[in-house]
Amino acid sequence: MNQPVMEGLRLNVPAYVKNQRLVAWVAEIAALTEARDVYWCDGSQAEYDRLCQQLVDAGTFKKLNPALRPGSYLACSDPSDVARVEDRTFICTKDKADAGPTNNWMNPAEMRALLQTGDKALFKGAMRGRTLYVVPFSMGPIGSPIAHIGVELSDSPYVAVNMRIMTRMGRAVLDVLGDDGEFVPCVHTVGAPLAAGQADVKWPCNSTKYIVHYPETREIWSYGSGYGGNALLGKKCFALRIASTMGRDQGWLAEHMLVLGVTSPEGKKHHVAAAFPSACGKTNFAMLIPPAGFEGWKVTTIGDDIAWIKPGKDGRLYAINPEAGYFGVAPGTNAQTNPNCMASLNKDVIFTNVALTDDGDVWWEGMTDTPPAHLIDWQGKDWTPAIAKETGAKAAHPNARFTVAATNNPALDVDWDNPAGVAIDAFIFGGRRSTTVPLVTEARDWVEGVYMAATMGSETTAAAAGQQGVVRRDPFAMLPFMGYNMADYFQHWLALGAKLQGAGATLPKIFCVNWFRKGADGKFVWPGYGENMRVLKWMLERVEGQGQGVEHAFGTSPRYEDLNWQGLAFTPEQYKTVTHISNEDWATELKLHDELFIQLAHNLPAELPATKAKIEGRLASQA
Ligand code: GTP
Ligand code: SPV
Ligand code: MN
Repeated sequence: MNQPVMEGLRLNVPAYVKNQRLVAWVAEIAALTEARDVYWCDGSQAEYDRLCQQLVDAGTFKKLNPALRPGSYLACSDPSDVARVEDRTFICTKDKADAGPTNNWMNPAEMRALLQTGDKALFKGAMRGRTLYVVPFSMGPIGSPIAHIGVELSDSPYVAVNMRIMTRMGRAVLDVLGDDGEFVPCVHTVGAPLAAGQADVKWPCNSTKYIVHYPETREIWSYGSGYGGNALLGKKCFALRIASTMGRDQGWLAEHMLVLGVTSPEGKKHHVAAAFPSACGKTNFAMLIPPAGFEGWKVTTIGDDIAWIKPGKDGRLYAINPEAGYFGVAPGTNAQTNPNCMASLNKDVIFTNVALTDDGDVWWEGMTDTPPAHLIDWQGKDWTPAIAKETGAKAAHPNARFTVAATNNPALDVDWDNPAGVAIDAFIFGGRRSTTVPLVTEARDWVEGVYMAATMGSETTAAAAGQQGVVRRDPFAMLPFMGYNMADYFQHWLALGAKLQGAGATLPKIFCVNWFRKGADGKFVWPGYGENMRVLKWMLERVEGQGQGVEHAFGTSPRYEDLNWQGLAFTPEQYKTVTHISNEDWATELKLHDELFIQLAHNLPAELPATKAKIEGRLASQA
């Protein structure tokens, strides 16, 4: 292998790298960004440990007390860089209609001028004074026919170590890539070049941010943020936005879904995929521990955030988790609500934006009933319960997260990295709604299920920058993650269902859930978490053609007596609070469906307004 030299910059290409297109591209980006040097990640433990130590030395990481939290670190970000930035996320297609009305769009040539080619292009010189890390990664098991390879070029060592946990990363990926393999090029910079002698900050980033996708050429360019979905480009950018367009072209689905297995006491196993918007309960549902009254039941995790779903030869839909780790929400997680998650976090974790205890461990709101007497909060300030009471200061940022390998999860499913995937028996869609939407509804058929998913609303959360707690339409929990026109995506779901059904397959049942209805006191009425098993069991009974329920305007829901209440004191009155359907509320809700359909009028499948008309007819006849 020759060693290209760019104006004095050695590319340091390891001898095992055989892909000339990759080498040429690294040279091009190193030249554009004027990186100080280039480092190729091999994905080894020694490399991970070395980069973590480097992050400790730079002040980005604090090493946590190894007696309490072995192998673990805390990173606290710049207070301006704490979540995904949806208004800075772009889908750049030649034709604006291909991005659709729900995405920010810019013409690819215009965007390239802004980022790469123009006089003041943002990536020009953006890595000055920094190392460019070459991060080869596989979404899906390395070498498997369902996996796809990406290479992220990033000037953030924080990104490199997080990618090692979140994906299959390193030399083995380049071995599979060989001399002419395909990869998705992902370029990332924090956008904070260093002048000679300039001291670095703990969390470099830029107030200008661009999270850019070119679905037609399958490229990702990310500028200005070091955080989560903005910077770990294998996750939302590749495995959802780019992959959704691959799925559209190739007849499969890339979804914002957890995938879990449920085994009954008799040993019968089902698989369920569930789409809830960001910070609406996927990780928790995927790690559920069945409560009292469900002895002998077991839930196992295949994935907690993303599913790639493909039709098998038998006409069933098979799901894999393309990721290798979890980037999960810390606040609210504790030994009662999610013991499996807490156990996953015992060692080898990167925490971001949680609080530091005086003995070198971590804490976040909701971890324990009684907070520690003193903490250093995520912004590095002293925090006490008294200060919190006075100022409302949070010890952890509401979108504080942990990064941890899937293999840390005690409830990991045996098939979690099976390249064949698992056959899906049911899809669940659910939003965070304090009113209106009942606990659980089964759609009558695939089209009504697609309608439910397409029109789903949810209250916004801290996972994205911007106002929180505002109800918005979040179709399929994919609003921030769609790589193409949302109306075409609805059509893709409808067409896939029709094709499989036409070939004689039994489609998965589709359900809509809401764990988040609130009472007059403003508190959640449904206990949620492990207790969601009661609803899950009913759904599986329906899959088996057994569970009972009552039909209403939207589909079928269980009556109080149709659920197993053993081990939980939950009264019929409380049940009514979480299941009641108010015609008045739904009149308002259906107007919001209308607004969505008007926004998506171009290419909107006719089945959806037709389904809405049927629902309105049923509501009217009940009134
Ligand atoms: P992303 O990683 O952002 O895609 O989120 P997610 O869907 O995996 O959400 P997660 O499971 O991390 O939950 C987010 C927040 O909702 C946490 O604070 C949880 O404690 C809380 N939560 C999860 N499940 C439930 C539930 O059943 N009931 C209630 N009340 N809260 C829940
Ligand atoms: C989400 O926001 O849905 C996440 C976290 O899963 S992030 O990776 O930051 O997008
Ligand atoms: Mn997510």
